[in-house]
Amino acid sequence: MSDGTNPLVFKIISECKTTRARVAKMTLPHGEVDTPVFMPVGTQGTLKGLLPEQLENLGVQIMLSNTYHLGTHPGPEILEKAGGLHKFMGWKGCLLTDSGGFQMVSLLKLAEITEDGVKFQSLSDQKSEVMLTPEHSIEIQNAIGADIIMQLDDVVKTTSPNKERIEQSVHRTTRWLDRCLKAHGKPDIQNIFPIVQGTLFQDLRKISAEDLVQRNVRGYAIGGLSGGESKLDFSKVVNYTAPLLPKEKPRYLMGVGFAIDIIVCCAMGIDMFDCVFPTRTARFGCALIKTGQLNLKQKQYKKDYNPIDKDCSCSTCKTYTRAYLHGIVTMHTVACHLLTVHNIAFQQHLMKSIRESIKEQRFPEFVKNFVNELYPQRD
Ligand code: GUN
Ligand code: ZN
Repeated sequence: MSDGTNPLVFKIISECKTTRARVAKMTLPHGEVDTPVFMPVGTQGTLKGLLPEQLENLGVQIMLSNTYHLGTHPGPEILEKAGGLHKFMGWKGCLLTDSGGFQMVSLLKLAEITEDGVKFQSLSDQKSEVMLTPEHSIEIQNAIGADIIMQLDDVVKTTSPNKERIEQSVHRTTRWLDRCLKAHGKPDIQNIFPIVQGTLFQDLRKISAEDLVQRNVRGYAIGGLSGGESKLDFSKVVNYTAPLLPKEKPRYLMGVGFAIDIIVCCAMGIDMFDCVFPTRTARFGCALIKTGQLNLKQKQYKKDYNPIDKDCSCSTCKTYTRAYLHGIVTMHTVACHLLTVHNIAFQQHLMKSIRESIKEQRFPEFVKNFVNELYPQRD
């Protein structure tokens, strides 16, 4: 647990001598988190297909949830009365909540952003309009009670060419951060992270990072990526932006979860990641493996009596074959559960391998081997 006065302690344990990768222990009010970490996403206060105790058994130390979804259902009053989301859903580990605006902008094409906040049509009642302001987002996040809460940010699609609008979003995001910090009712037990915006423009990323770094917070996020930009553009932005953020504080890259992206971004000094991908793809019948994914719906697995991955130690791989999973994959719930267990175990194993290779000063080798397995050389 944290010492009661500081709700986030970030202690760097090892640094790679070749890259900017590092291993740290982050102490939060609900426990310790080993970084680099991948945070699975449980949008509505449940990670679809798994119980909180199963997540704990898989070694998950922190999960992510979303403000908007929980803000409308069950709503802040019920969450507050329950003593926060931890107690409500029976999750003892750490929690991070995203602020809500991004989900609305990406889910509902109809969201309108003004200086006041993000205006969108209610999900439950299409006719009424809802306004999510920085203050309201923080009010809901205070009721949820996550260890880390995110500022409301003004997100512009990565591929937008409208630099004027992107510049506006950068400055507005800083103004919204100040409104969030002012509205924050529980600074002693919850940490607000600002979010660097600026899409693919280096000059705007620099302005954004420099403005946000002047605020006294305990960690920072990089947002506005993973929105259809090329891999080269994506990695250029991360490589440029990460070192603009304080070395002694955690850096969180939002919405990134492919193994190869995680590895590359760890090398650039990122400590935290989240993405719906591993759990969502499990629900579509896909299992993650080192060389990509197995789509267990495909006929080729009908008589394949191997586990998903013979080297995986998860309960699914220890017990079930690809043939069995192929047979039940369209009959949802059980298959969804078994594949979700495997995919979370895959991400957990990946992060542990990254941390161990950094600690043992063999991270560059680890990266090389991973890339060679993923993209075998042809001669
Ligand atoms: N999730 C992925 N990208 C973003 C972002 O830019 N902002 C927020 N709030 N959440 C995200
Ligand atoms: Zn497995």
